[in-house]
Amino acid sequence: MYYLGSKVKLIPFLRSSMEVVVGESLKSSHFCDLFAGSGAVTEVFKESVASIVANDQEVYSYILLQNILRQKPLDGLEEACESLFTCKKSEGIIFNYYARGGGCGRNYFSDENAQKIDALRQVIEQYKEHEATYICLLASLLYSAHKVSNTASIYGAFLKELKALAKEPLVFEPRIYPMVQIPCHVFCEDANVLIERIEGDILYLDPPYNHRQYGANYHLLNTIARYDGFTPKGKTGVRAYKSSRYCKA
Ligand SMILES: C[S@@+](CC[C@H](N)C(=O)[O-])C[C@H]1O[C@@H](n2cnc3c(N)ncnc32)[C@H](O)[C@@H]1O
Repeated sequence: MYYLGSKVKLIPFLRSSMEVVVGESLKSSHFCDLFAGSGAVTEVFKESVASIVANDQEVYSYILLQNILRQKPLDGLEEACESLFTCKKSEGIIFNYYARGGGCGRNYFSDENAQKIDALRQVIEQYKEHEATYICLLASLLYSAHKVSNTASIYGAFLKELKALAKEPLVFEPRIYPMVQIPCHVFCEDANVLIERIEGDILYLDPPYNHRQYGANYHLLNTIARYDGFTPKGKTGVRAYKSSRYCKA
């Protein structure tokens, strides 16, 4: 997923820098990624460390992180996917508030894709009691919806006309990671508060580095994740979000 401030391209540098400092003991280190975002760094380091703490204050990120650090089997996944692959479109929050056809004037998704997202999200809710499966399905929907969003990359604004990718039909692609065998803890908190309660050997801190608030720029991912009652505000339909004190120019 394209993500503001993603460190995907810096992974080799991060790994070699950490190895220079901790050497062989990387394997026995407790790793903490407290501004984990897309989870790109957590995803790589979970293979090389003894335990991991991943945190981000945004809910969509919490879902992605829990899926990347899955520790339970995916009960009922096959059956869930069958119903998701065949579910009919439906008009819900995403269509009504974020697609032209809903009459709100916003154009974040094509009408068809917005209705597909609503349908998928409603079916996914039926799997809530199978926690790992539910998280996996929800994370998969976030990635799949993000691929066909009608934005320049973030949700701070939508494009007037549908771009080519946004015209493509949404394809629901399950994002399945192998079960992680090391101890993992995932949080959705302010890192400044969480830091008081955790311990580790390697503290990886990648806070925001400009004024752009993640809650505002990824509000639609939070809305798909939460799928709750709220009042969208203004031209972009942003929902109330947590401001980060790290977001400064
Ligand atoms: C530069 S991005 C991290 C990118 C991440 N390393 C990656 O590769 O995807 C910064 C992240 O910090 C999160 N954030 C901002 N303020 C925070 C806070 N006070 N506590 C926890 N997370 C916060 C944002 O939601 C965002 O995901």
